[in-house]
Amino acid sequence: TERNYLENIDQEQQYTTTQFEFSVIYAQVNDMVTLEPPKTYSPTEHYLYWSFGGLELAWRNPIGGSGLNADILIWSGNSLIITKIPQGQFGTFTCTLGRDKIEKNLSMNQTSPLLPGDRVSLTCDAEKPHSLKSPQIHWLNPQGVRIFGYQQTVTATGLHNGEWTCVVTNDNKEKRAKIKVTVVDLSPAPTSPLYTSKSQPLTIPCSIPSGISWEQVKAKGVQGVHWDYFPNTGLSHISGDPQRLFSLSLNDTLRWQPDRSRGLTPVSSLIKGNLSLFINKAKEEDRGDYVCTMKFRNGVTLKRTVQVNVLQIISSPETDLISGQQLNLTCSLGRLLSSDLQLKLIPPEQSALQLLTSDREPALLNIPEVGTGDSGKWRCELWQRSARLTYAVIALKIEPKLSVWMLIIICSVTVIVLLLLVLVFILCHRRQRKMRHPRHRLCHCKNPKPKGFYRT
Ligand SMILES: *[C@@H]1O[C@H](CO)[C@@H](O)[C@H](O)[C@H]1NC(C)=O
Ligand SMILES: *[C@@H]1O[C@H](CO)[C@@H](O)[C@H](O)[C@H]1NC(C)=O
Repeated sequence: TERNYLENIDQEQQYTTTQFEFSVIYAQVNDMVTLEPPKTYSPTEHYLYWSFGGLELAWRNPIGGSGLNADILIWSGNSLIITKIPQGQFGTFTCTLGRDKIEKNLSMNQTSPLLPGDRVSLTCDAEKPHSLKSPQIHWLNPQGVRIFGYQQTVTATGLHNGEWTCVVTNDNKEKRAKIKVTVVDLSPAPTSPLYTSKSQPLTIPCSIPSGISWEQVKAKGVQGVHWDYFPNTGLSHISGDPQRLFSLSLNDTLRWQPDRSRGLTPVSSLIKGNLSLFINKAKEEDRGDYVCTMKFRNGVTLKRTVQVNVLQIISSPETDLISGQQLNLTCSLGRLLSSDLQLKLIPPEQSALQLLTSDREPALLNIPEVGTGDSGKWRCELWQRSARLTYAVIALKIEPKLSVWMLIIICSVTVIVLLLLVLVFILCHRRQRKMRHPRHRLCHCKNPKPKGFYRT
């Protein structure tokens, strides 16, 4: 018996003899013959197969699979045993070893990073040397979803960003290899609208994937990055004129240039690819769509639209009231409520009024006569099933009403004070007249009585 040890060294499935072992076994017909693999054989790294006269007798693969093509053959550990060697089987037995080539054969027909819209093929070529049984191959995309086929051709989007795994399965054992795909794309916009209020700040998200640097984005031919605002006049669904909020200066120092910032501020982690905007104390006028755009020279435009809803609580006529006044509290979102949304108007703890729940927009609470107990913080909350989306707070100040008796007392006191003032005025006036003509007066007095200030 002859043993050859061949090692596969490249992807073209050409095998070059790197080592060669040769040994001779003497046997008689019907003897048991043990064929040992080469000393360098590693069961977890090599494919192995035995052949005689060009016909495959047996194979093993590094993921535990094996096969025998004749019933006189059995495996004993790594050795192949011919239980009873027949007459015609004397000659040269060849053992070939091959390496696992899966990782070498993972390939992508484009250079990373990709732009959305690029067509890219990922190939996992796990073909085995010669006649070894083809294993099953599937891919796992970055989200971990299984896709069948050794080659995947996709139109790149941000969702393809990340590690793709090729899984080779044979006899229920698997071997995995990974390839990294980078796509310059904007993070997906939130799937549902965002909610904010004067009481709750909000980050309007937009970002590029964390693994991508601005240098890579620039190398892809980025032309402009900006934020626009599309006002939404709420219930009428008519959008107003768009406004440019910020433009990104793509020169050496990366920074946002405000066009019309409307009280929004970009977050500080721009360098790390975070393009988000921050809005504090959002008002009714901030309701609308915020659009983050990235344009490339080749015509690719990436856009993400974030709908921002602002919850608002309004007190009519005002927030400073006197008990007994009529008051309307309105809590509104400025758009029709979908069936899963609910508004709750919550009075301050000491108030005798009940919580108001409304499925309709706006939630309106009419209080015919407010009391001092209604003073304090009123909250309006927006709920989606069992989750609170946002809340708004208003503080009411309610002074006690003056009673009739208090009014009478105050009026009486005022009248008395006024009378006293008149009396004092008259007295002063008379004294002043006396002071202007003191001698004349003194002369005419029969019994002049010098007082403290009539010095003699
Ligand atoms: C961007 O910055 C904001 C505010 O600091 C943060 O909340 C958000 O998670 C950041 N986004 C990413 C993708 O890092
Ligand atoms: C409160 O609302 C009612 C009905 O909507 C209205 O008639 C009334 O004038 C309002 N009062 C105030 C003080 O706004």
